[in-house]
Amino acid sequence: MPNLVETTGIVHRYLSARVPLIVVQSIEPNRVMEIIASCAARARQMSYYEHSRTEGIKDLLTGQAVSDETSLQAALEQARMTFKSRQNVNFVFTDVEGLESETTTSRHFAEMVRLAESRQCTIMLITANPVWPGLGRLGMCERLDLPTTEELALTLTQMVDDHRGRLPIQWQADEVRQAAEALTGITEAEAINVLASLLAKGSLEITDLAELSRFKDRIFGDMSGIERIPLRGDYEVGGLRGLREWLEPRERLMKMDLTHSPLHPPKGVLLVGVPGCGKSLSAKAIASQWDLPLYRLDMAGILGMYVGQSESQLREALAAADRVAPCVLWIDEIEKALASGAGDSGTSRRLVGQFLFWLQESTSKVFMVATANDVSSLPPELLRKGRFDELFFVDLPDPSDREEIAQVYFQRYLSMDPSPLLLKEVVEHSDGFSGSDIDAVIHEIAARRFTSAQEGEPSDEEILAYFDNVLPYSQTNPEDVAAIRAWGESRCVPAGSARTLNGTFAGATAPRRRVLV
Ligand SMILES: Nc1ncnc2c1ncn2[C@@H]1O[C@H](COP(=O)(O)OP(=O)(O)O)[C@@H](O)[C@H]1O
Ligand SMILES: [Mg+2]
Repeated sequence: MPNLVETTGIVHRYLSARVPLIVVQSIEPNRVMEIIASCAARARQMSYYEHSRTEGIKDLLTGQAVSDETSLQAALEQARMTFKSRQNVNFVFTDVEGLESETTTSRHFAEMVRLAESRQCTIMLITANPVWPGLGRLGMCERLDLPTTEELALTLTQMVDDHRGRLPIQWQADEVRQAAEALTGITEAEAINVLASLLAKGSLEITDLAELSRFKDRIFGDMSGIERIPLRGDYEVGGLRGLREWLEPRERLMKMDLTHSPLHPPKGVLLVGVPGCGKSLSAKAIASQWDLPLYRLDMAGILGMYVGQSESQLREALAAADRVAPCVLWIDEIEKALASGAGDSGTSRRLVGQFLFWLQESTSKVFMVATANDVSSLPPELLRKGRFDELFFVDLPDPSDREEIAQVYFQRYLSMDPSPLLLKEVVEHSDGFSGSDIDAVIHEIAARRFTSAQEGEPSDEEILAYFDNVLPYSQTNPEDVAAIRAWGESRCVPAGSARTLNGTFAGATAPRRRVLV
């Protein structure tokens, strides 16, 4: 990404080379004007004029108005006369409309460039969009990208330091860097507005950092293709210890400053496995625990679009994710969109390719959590090593996981701390239950008691009766579960604690890959 210093160097070189047309493409005309002003200060033997539709024409070095005429016509005429009478003059035009294609305006500019060339003069155009090639090819085009994280950090540091002593400010270098990372993807002016709004509260606190992603959401408005998922604070995942341990160092890596390090941020995980065992829950829990915003990418929705639209929509969605980084990007039930044979197979294959390319190339702090229930039809290239950082198999919870999960929901729905004996029995009576089944049973107990206004804690017998009354998903759909587990065994290997499920499933073989219980 060319930054301000690089672009300044290049523009300076083009000016010295007397290139007759210099187009600088940027959505931040003010930053481009800074570049031109610093070039002007370096090469004072040249004259610089700037035309804008609000101020007419002014001399850039003295800041004095040359003409109040604001129309483009008048400015072009002024430029023509100046070029005819003097050499080494530079005319800067901002906000000119109609340059993207062959129009009267773009043809007029092309003529002016030819005149400028014959007089060692230069026309500079600052524009948000690429210009008509017939014009652009007469000179050189350069793009000024949005400020890099380092540039933003510099701007924010100056602003924060300016307010130190006057306001209570908790931010130190590390917080400023985190803020710059969170704001990367917006313009310098927008970043300044965001920080100014925080400072306007009268203080700058560590907790303000969490606000930044909300500001960014507001700036982007329509996030084209990704949707922000509001998070609560209470996502408790029982079991899945392998995943949780694996995530720990990754969280640190996501938060660290990697600018001067050869390391790249973690890319993400693919969670596959039995329905109702905590895959979607984990996506939310990761974002919540890492204090990052969670965005959902609706891959199936993208695939369902008109032919030709899907690819551009996916590109926009992934670009949006890059912009809102650092974040967690969640694709739920990825197989629904990317299964071989889903939708128009050509489109689906291209989407897989596009997605994998992004996964491999993107260096932004976007942590991807993709989940899948039906894994049999997932395209094999998605599962190859090196795509996601890791592929986890989320199996039915084992006894100790069931104990943890039951504890979570006894506490949540019944505000009760079950005795060790009750827990042991619940575990025995819930063989084959998923986390979602356990959640549902305890919720049912609490709901019945609530609606019939029963007081106090339910008895152990009552609780166990509820468990005995439920047929878990693994028993109502044994073939599905067996197929998913068989797949998990061959690809990621199920739990180290091999178990039998109602005698129909013969435990695991030796682990080949990191595994979850
Ligand atoms: N390991 C778990 N720990 C705690 N709750 C769980 C667990 N697994 C499932 N649940 C409960 O079941 C619900 C559904 O689980 P979910 O994560 O959506 O399953 P899936 O694996 O199909 O995505 C969760 O919202 C949660 O209430
Ligand atoms: Mg799910």
